[in-house]
Amino acid sequence: MFVTKNTEVIGLDIGAYSIKLARLKKTRKGFELMNFGIMPTPPDAIVDGVIEKPEDITEAIRKLVSSEKVKIKHLVTAVSGESVIIKKINVPIMTDDELAESIPLEAEQYIPFDIDDVNIDFQIIRKIQLTEGPKEAGLEEEPEDQMDVILVAVKKDIIAERVSLINGAGLDSVVIDLDVFAIENEYEFNYGFQEGEVIALVDIGASFTNINILEGMVTSFTRDLTIGGDVCTRAIQNELNVGPEVAENLKMGIEADGVSHKDVIPMITAATEGLSQEIAKSFEFYSTAANREIDKVVLSGGWAAMEGINKFLSNSLGLPVEIVDSFKNIKVNYNMFDPEYIKDMAPIAATSIGLAMRRFDDR
Ligand SMILES: Nc1ncnc2c1ncn2[C@@H]1O[C@H](COP(=O)(O)OP(=O)(O)OP(=O)(O)O)[C@@H](O)[C@H]1O
Ligand SMILES: [Mg+2]
Repeated sequence: MFVTKNTEVIGLDIGAYSIKLARLKKTRKGFELMNFGIMPTPPDAIVDGVIEKPEDITEAIRKLVSSEKVKIKHLVTAVSGESVIIKKINVPIMTDDELAESIPLEAEQYIPFDIDDVNIDFQIIRKIQLTEGPKEAGLEEEPEDQMDVILVAVKKDIIAERVSLINGAGLDSVVIDLDVFAIENEYEFNYGFQEGEVIALVDIGASFTNINILEGMVTSFTRDLTIGGDVCTRAIQNELNVGPEVAENLKMGIEADGVSHKDVIPMITAATEGLSQEIAKSFEFYSTAANREIDKVVLSGGWAAMEGINKFLSNSLGLPVEIVDSFKNIKVNYNMFDPEYIKDMAPIAATSIGLAMRRFDDR
């Protein structure tokens, strides 16, 4: 397949609750929004991160693409969950080629899967000069310079599954990214990172919460929690003995079956409290290991759209919590898009927008 950095792509975020499609046009100053569409994921098609009904998803993707009237066939999508390992490792300084050669061996000690079952990628993020000043001529000893490398391993079967979904919908997948990196891309473009600042990007979806803690611009810790908005929906279903659609409506403030939103607040509170505790555990783990405190939390994903979530989490975590605006620095033509829709989608679009920004000149 012949693709260049000018190849137009669409970003497709395939979630357990909804599928989001984003397309951006590169402008001289940045990006303009050309498409943003969202379609519910067919019921039970993705359960706990596992694709149970691939044909249903393929069909939904086909519908979404056709309703958005996009003709572009090249697509960038992402994976996350337990089939994905992201590790920051430290190795002696070497060239890209040398690293590429030694990385499988290096990786073996960090990856809990058979090395033949994973695709490995890496990126050098920082070279640490332990030896200061110009090297003396004739010095026998090799300087012990080190560099930090982000190592990514993704199970091959999960990639093959994604590619076949996409091909099934008549599209070509050109890049398979990671959810956390897509969100990082989106955040960097819209907000930028400040030197020394520690930011926790937290995406709360239906079945997963993806955490990415960055120091400056560099990923230092990631974790995918197997908890999301579904926990809350299920609690409402069980306690009130209602079906999933009714529970969803109640959660969003729509009265159903004679039950009002007020009646489900205790369940929402309990679920959010549970999520908060899990997030706090990850934050503590990071802070202890890195000996750094988190400066700010930035939320994205569907659950981030729930009213008051930022205040709730800010109180329970004791940290400033903001909700991301994925369109902050993106030009939006409001003759093409409803401002209310764009506002509502601002946290939900994060991953798809980050994917749509992906060009082929970066890794
Ligand atoms: N306005 C809203 N208020 C409250 N909850 C919401 C709102 N919008 C979406 N949600 C909840 O957010 C969750 C879906 O979020 P999102 O679309 O980010 O998930 P996903 O990307 O499909 O799932 P995952 O990433 O876990 O595979 C659902 O639990 C849904 O009920
Ligand atoms: Mg998601």
